[in-house]
Amino acid sequence: MGRAYGPADRALTREFATRPYESADRDVVVALWRRCGLVVPWNDPDEDIAAFMQCENATILVGCGDSVVVATAAAGYDGHRGWIYYVAAHPDQRKRGAGRQVVEAAEAWLRERSAAKVQIMIRTDNWPVARFYARLGYQTAPRTTMQRWLSPPAVTEFDDSGDGTLAISQTRLEMLAPPPRPRFVQPGGKLALLHAPTPPVRFFRYLYDNVGERWFWWERRAMDDEALAGILADPLVELYVLYVDGAPAGFAELDLNELSSSQTISLNLLGLMPEHLGKGYGRYLMTWAIDSAWRREPKRLVTTIRSLDHPHAAAVLQQHGFVPFEQERMTMEDPRRCGLIPADVGLGTTGYGRPAATLVGGDSVVTPLPRRD
Ligand SMILES: CC(C)(COP(=O)(O)OP(=O)(O)OC[C@H]1O[C@@H](n2cnc3c(N)ncnc32)[C@H](O)[C@@H]1OP(=O)(O)O)[C@@H](O)C(=O)NCCC(=O)NCCS
Repeated sequence: MGRAYGPADRALTREFATRPYESADRDVVVALWRRCGLVVPWNDPDEDIAAFMQCENATILVGCGDSVVVATAAAGYDGHRGWIYYVAAHPDQRKRGAGRQVVEAAEAWLRERSAAKVQIMIRTDNWPVARFYARLGYQTAPRTTMQRWLSPPAVTEFDDSGDGTLAISQTRLEMLAPPPRPRFVQPGGKLALLHAPTPPVRFFRYLYDNVGERWFWWERRAMDDEALAGILADPLVELYVLYVDGAPAGFAELDLNELSSSQTISLNLLGLMPEHLGKGYGRYLMTWAIDSAWRREPKRLVTTIRSLDHPHAAAVLQQHGFVPFEQERMTMEDPRRCGLIPADVGLGTTGYGRPAATLVGGDSVVTPLPRRD
């Protein structure tokens, strides 16, 4: 038997307390994790709970307000460091200290086991939560986490529920003033950035398909030639192509359609050909696109990234001065399923007139993120 959440407006009270998980908490804890976006297709929450409970060096702690479970944190000590997982506070109870208290309880549990350091892993599509950990004194560690499945799960990140849909998040970012220029070294090769005022549709498809395939960019692939030509002919949508040693290496698209009405410019698209990733061309192109946008004297620059984009995209955008202001979680049809993105990504296809992928309606959740003062 599980316990239900308390009333939505229940405030944290003096009776807030943390305690170890009990089996009767199962339903409410799993519901809380789902509500907080912590359940992913390749982690079964029941298996995770069982594993935490069976391991003597691991625990799940729950935080209760008036005896109702409103927060959790799981902790594990690996003999060298402590790790904290499944940090959650019920959305109706946030910003009242529940998250902090369960994390501190997990830290105390780890300290008792002589863990000198505690670490946390944040999924790249959840990076805004880093500000919560920063308030608790956590610092970004100069480390790269790598992984390998020892026992591969039945489903992967890109084969979500097995019904052909993908659960993704989409984050909107803005910049309200030209940023201080980040230090960057000009990458190698002979570089040229050319404005393509009316590029042939086929040339655009070549850029878009090759740049965006691995990030599941499907929207422009779904357009027929006429619709795409309409965008490419729009004088307020500007395409800039980066050439390295004479060959296209990437592109950026600036949309000035809202410049006169709301003094906003949108960086619609920016990406590199696969062979040019990781060599500094992305930063070069982004710096150039941002400078170029600010030269038009807007009041605001906006852009959007998805959890399917390059794993460093969010960090690079923030380094260049963008600040997230809204995040949306949504379910979309897997574009590989309808042929918009090849099932065997990497081989590349050039087929046109493919069927349209659609957003699966009904369960999109938009969360405004804290804005910069
Ligand atoms: C992260 C989470 C647990 C925070 O819970 P919470 O109860 O709102 O946190 P608290 O009220 O204890 O906040 C502690 C501090 O962090 C700040 N904070 C909390 N969320 C924040 C956010 N999204 N951005 C900036 N600051 C934030 C609070 O303002 C508070 O600041 P203070 O030190 O000035 O008082 C909650 O937002 C959550 O469940 N998120 C979804 C699940 C998730 O992403 N978990 C982390 C997986 S790595």
